[in-house]
Amino acid sequence: MADSIFDRPLENKYHEEAPVTDFEAFRKIVESRRSIRVYEDRAVPDDVVRECLRLALLAPTSSNLQCWEFHWVKNPEIKAQLAKACFGQPAATTAPVLMVAVARPNLWRRHAKEMAELLESQGAPKAVLSYYKKLVPAAYGLMGPFGVLSPLKWLVINLMGLFQVMPRDPMSPWGLKTWAHKTVALACENLMLAFRAAGYDTCPMEGFDEVRVKRLLKLPRGSSVTMVISAGRRAVGGVYGARVRFPESRFLIEH
Ligand SMILES: Cc1cc2nc3c(=O)[nH]c(=O)nc-3n(C[C@H](O)[C@H](O)[C@H](O)COP(=O)(O)O)c2cc1C
Repeated sequence: MADSIFDRPLENKYHEEAPVTDFEAFRKIVESRRSIRVYEDRAVPDDVVRECLRLALLAPTSSNLQCWEFHWVKNPEIKAQLAKACFGQPAATTAPVLMVAVARPNLWRRHAKEMAELLESQGAPKAVLSYYKKLVPAAYGLMGPFGVLSPLKWLVINLMGLFQVMPRDPMSPWGLKTWAHKTVALACENLMLAFRAAGYDTCPMEGFDEVRVKRLLKLPRGSSVTMVISAGRRAVGGVYGARVRFPESRFLIEH
């Protein structure tokens, strides 16, 4: 039996072969993804959007808790209002497809319970079950209503951290939001690369009025909009300029 959740259980014989992949194809997808500000007036087939959304949800997710939602806004009236809530940016107003990526940090409790039940029904090892039944509630909970217990959690974690390796964040509802946004952002990148691989283009947007977007989509309290993503085919002039990046040496640090 494994000593910790991070060890591979000895009885685990599960294996997936790594298929041969095409790095050149991936490079082409990544390098040709640009933020598109003006789209051609051409629809994207629904099955392409659906497949790209499916691939988005294959992104890694913290503790596999999947605290995300993707709202594909198809209703023309709501779509027009959404574009308006994105300050009427052409990346939104000219886009045939508009989607809203939403972080739902509060889903962790329900999903942890469901995950424990699912794994239990599959005969998962005790350590895995205890991860979802004990560790996850301690890591993502113990903050009290509206985070009133967050300072206490911070203090206890930091005191214990003086003597042992400790999981630190999230310690407050704000930390939990950041935690969920990280996972959603990974799915957003999957989504944008999937569209590019399918021959379409995208633009991620944080230029929106979150209160209006939440009201428009009737998002529940505690949810948070990570970004709005538009998709379609780039129009001539839809890329505003050559790609600009600072020198890699500034950002790539070796230790
Ligand atoms: C989180 C996020 C929010 C962004 N918000 C907007 C936006 O509101 N409007 C827009 O035109 N571009 C937006 N962008 C696109 C960036 O401006 C763009 O990624 C950057 O200029 C680099 O260009 P590239 O994506 O073509 O490489 C956003 C990008 C990210 C990652």
